[in-house]
Amino acid sequence: MLDRYVTLLQSGEIVAFPTETVYGLGAMATNPDAIKKVFETKGRPSDNPLIVHISDIDQVESFAAEISEDAKKLMEAFWPGPLTLIFKKKPEVLDLITAGLNTVALRWPNHPSAQKLISIAGPLVAPSANSSGKPSPTKAEHVKEDFGHDFPVLNAGETDIGLESTVLDISSEPYTIYRPGAISAEQISELIGKTVDQEVPSSKNTAAKSPGTKYSHYTPAAKVMWLSPHDTSFWDETLYLLHTTHPPYNSNRVVFYDGDFKRMAHELYDRFRQADHQNYKRVVVDPFANDQLQDPLVQALHNRISKAIG
Ligand code: TXA
Ligand code: MG
Repeated sequence: MLDRYVTLLQSGEIVAFPTETVYGLGAMATNPDAIKKVFETKGRPSDNPLIVHISDIDQVESFAAEISEDAKKLMEAFWPGPLTLIFKKKPEVLDLITAGLNTVALRWPNHPSAQKLISIAGPLVAPSANSSGKPSPTKAEHVKEDFGHDFPVLNAGETDIGLESTVLDISSEPYTIYRPGAISAEQISELIGKTVDQEVPSSKNTAAKSPGTKYSHYTPAAKVMWLSPHDTSFWDETLYLLHTTHPPYNSNRVVFYDGDFKRMAHELYDRFRQADHQNYKRVVVDPFANDQLQDPLVQALHNRISKAIG
């Protein structure tokens, strides 16, 4: 079953594959024409760099110019897993991958199918396998929605976490998180004994260092809004995603998570896509309280929902 995807990759085609976060759109990291297809297929601006996915710690040396003691600790503690690390790059890493930056993003995904595919085919560049601006795919069907029914997708069911990896820049100090994910700043700074910055996505400085942060993301066609505490109206044509506020009444327009943020993260992007299929005009989400925002997954949820609100 995997052979078909390996063959496609090795013949310069691109294929979608599952990771523990979201589905990725893979191309061989050594094939410029295949990498160009990734940008074309997604409609991704060429100044937005790609993550290289590896299946073994030894492969880091082929891409990273230097591997610090902190890098080693982070890889040891969090790989394979939902942490992308940004290193200074080796000169031979293709400019197409890094969008001309002097750094390269690396991740070892914690998913058996991804690991098998990469270990046979070799390191793969892989952005999330959605059209640019759409929510990331957490099911094979989402990929086919965006790229067509015949698009090759290595289908392993729903992805586990449902939100993209934490992106951490360790190429210069202070280390900076460009995108929050399941692994938090607190976990990272506790491990290495250094503070870690969280960049404000809209700042000019961040846009220069991590171009992806300046593009709009994660947006369904329906308007995403926070639930206003004083608003007692229960709108028609609206999907409510509530985690703490008790639903006003039973309705198929309300999804109640009852504090289960894992489930909320797992299915957020699917709910966004469903809202569009069912022609909802709005998706209204319960805002998160400060104590809830201590949880890394809630920070990641807050980030993605804020981005969808725009
Ligand atoms: O969970 C994930 O990370 C998924 C799965 C498929 O691994 N991938 C993913 O890739 O979300 P993508 O391309 O959708 O998001 C990667 C983010 C972008 O915001 C990009 O700008 C940033 O990482 N990035 C990649 N290389 C970078 C670099 N050298 N410097 C700064 N930011 C970089
Ligand atoms: Mg993406």
